[in-house]
Amino acid sequence: MTGPINILLVGCGLMGKRHIHGLWELSRVGAHKVQLVGVVDKVPERAAEAAGIAERLLSRRPAEFGSLQGALEALDVDVVDICTDVSTHHILARAALERGIHCLIEKPLAATVRACRLVIEAARRGGAKLGVAENYRRDPSNRLAKWIIEKGAFGHVLDFLQVQLGGGDAVLLSSWRHSKAGGIILDLCCHYTDIINYYLGEPEWVYGYSSRLRRIRYSREDVGGELVKRPLEVEAEDLLDATFTYRGGCVAKLYVNLSSAGVGLYHRSVHFEDGSMIVPQERTGGPVMTSRPTDSDYLGLTTMGVFLGVRPAEPYRLTEQDVAEVYDRYTLKLFPGLLNGYSLSFQEADRKLIALEMLDFLDSVTTGGEPETGGVEGLLSVAMIMAALESSVAGRRVALREVLDLKIEEYQGQINRQLGIASDL
Ligand SMILES: NC(=O)c1ccc[n+]([C@@H]2O[C@H](COP(=O)([O-])OP(=O)(O)OC[C@H]3O[C@@H](n4cnc5c(N)ncnc54)[C@H](O)[C@@H]3O)[C@@H](O)[C@H]2O)c1
Repeated sequence: MTGPINILLVGCGLMGKRHIHGLWELSRVGAHKVQLVGVVDKVPERAAEAAGIAERLLSRRPAEFGSLQGALEALDVDVVDICTDVSTHHILARAALERGIHCLIEKPLAATVRACRLVIEAARRGGAKLGVAENYRRDPSNRLAKWIIEKGAFGHVLDFLQVQLGGGDAVLLSSWRHSKAGGIILDLCCHYTDIINYYLGEPEWVYGYSSRLRRIRYSREDVGGELVKRPLEVEAEDLLDATFTYRGGCVAKLYVNLSSAGVGLYHRSVHFEDGSMIVPQERTGGPVMTSRPTDSDYLGLTTMGVFLGVRPAEPYRLTEQDVAEVYDRYTLKLFPGLLNGYSLSFQEADRKLIALEMLDFLDSVTTGGEPETGGVEGLLSVAMIMAALESSVAGRRVALREVLDLKIEEYQGQINRQLGIASDL
């Protein structure tokens, strides 16, 4: 590839606009010459708004389109960047990939395992690169956590815990997140299964329980000082309790309740033979905290303390020498002076993580290598959620392999029929 890489953005909602900020950040790294040549949205005002943001940040107004097909007919495109509702990912991606156009798709790769496999197959047929825009693992805190695990600094991992409670009765960002195809449990929790896979690798067995706790949710708007509250009937689950088990006994536990009102809760920790690690929420910039008890801590245990932690966590001390091992060159360029944690606004951190996922994907396009989060990783993070949802319906633990190989599709069958792909593949 000699000239600039021509990018077409499809979907100009919440994330599409954030991708333009990511492109802006990327342009400041200077690693790839890229050009946002077009923006597509079925809602013309959103395409126009995105084109305006691009004009301001990237000094060039991209052309506006109402459909992917229209844009591909009019423009010379190297990379399609898909930021649409989850239920459309497999349709748009296949249309581009089969024409040999590289595709970066916002997570989750697609709405079901079958839909993911159709996208992977289209990339293979078209000989095009497929990347999944998975920003969470790119946060420096997750790079450091992964390094600590791999280094074995605290011995073997015994278990991993991710908990999130919140949401109340609100419509969570958009109404499509409450429909069955691409519902909020998949939409949010695929980040967490990607983290589990990143930290610990592919699990063997999955046990899950899921339910829809709220049937009605509300969007709230302040219209001239008046509260306008609109109800939305909900189809999708809002609770997932999943347990992933590994050969050798390690367990990863994911508990998410998005109907919980009042005080919320967020927690991620990894527990080792010789200590524990608490990893902060992505984009908060908090430090990775670790704790290693000593013999005298154990000696001093009271009856009450026997089943509880014995030493408070403190920020992991990373030396200047370790830094080059922990973080890649793009991360260090975007987070100058990085050790453990950073001090940036959510928006700044967000666009840096998006730039990092884009840089990785563009490297794969220009070098012919594979992106860090490609079809395999994207499929795995979706399959882990689907395995938990299938387990909940089947009332038994399921092997992740059964789900990856499409041996169990009872839960997903309804979505596949709705998407018109029940017998494809
Ligand atoms: N990585 C993250 O942190 C993060 C955060 C939010 C959303 N996302 C992901 O980004 C994607 C989009 O989410 P969002 O919150 O931006 O949704 P959104 O509803 O705000 O935006 C989606 C846009 O796509 C457009 N669209 C839908 N179908 C289309 C089609 N066929 N052709 C053209 N335009 C179409 C819609 O009109 C809308 O403007 C989802 O996959 C979501 O999971 C990721």
